[in-house]
Amino acid sequence: MPTHNPHHQSKPLSKPLSLLLLLPFFSLISPSLANTEKVIFTAPPPAPLSGLDAAIHNNLPVLGPSTSWSVRTNLSRVFPLSQQDEEPGYASWLLLDNLTPGQRYELRVCWSALEPTAFTLDTYPLTTILSTPALLQSLTQHAKSATPQPHQEDHHDRKVSSPSDDNSALLLRVLAAADYFSHHSSLMKDPPPVLVDLILDPYLYNVLPQSLVPTVGYLVVVGVVSCSANNDQTKKQN
Ligand SMILES: *[C@@H]1O[C@H](CO)[C@@H](O)[C@H](O)[C@H]1NC(C)=O
Repeated sequence: MPTHNPHHQSKPLSKPLSLLLLLPFFSLISPSLANTEKVIFTAPPPAPLSGLDAAIHNNLPVLGPSTSWSVRTNLSRVFPLSQQDEEPGYASWLLLDNLTPGQRYELRVCWSALEPTAFTLDTYPLTTILSTPALLQSLTQHAKSATPQPHQEDHHDRKVSSPSDDNSALLLRVLAAADYFSHHSSLMKDPPPVLVDLILDPYLYNVLPQSLVPTVGYLVVVGVVSCSANNDQTKKQN
């Protein structure tokens, strides 16, 4: 009669468990001279983008599988005006385009610690923007002041989906607030733009960001090696 061997049952558990135990240490690896802020979201069901004004659409930087996974750009900053200000920072907008519906993604903004900035990241479906006048006004203002995206001039280069096609897309709002105090009045009046990398990362099996996988593999190897070293020591002591 086939019986379940308890050792065989416990084995598949050990790998995910060791991954979970290692997760708190990821924050220790990030380089100290770069700051990161992120937002995690699930791609929405496909819907047409036709409600978005074409002029706005053309002026928005696009992140996604059919364009680019990351973009380096200068973002304008302001000082937060007051505590009760609902939008702490200068709003910049991006379009997250051609996502996989139901897939989890992480959007990171990375910037130099030499340019102290507080970022607030939010993603909105187009329907929310269109039904919220303050958001629509912010998006319109940004698109008007933005220079047309250089990589969008050559339309043959981009696989742009037609606005009427069904497309899993979100609008990303990045609020950037200068987060320093300076005795230079010009720096306090007009904070210079902050240079950032905006990186979109799909989660592998909806659990880990793809770009972290090599790190996890490395940590698991290191973890296993140090665990077995400990075991050896214990054995020698006994
Ligand atoms: C950002 O601004 C700096 C300073 O004005 C400039 O040197 C740099 O080329 C800009 N980078 C991008 C990606 O726009």
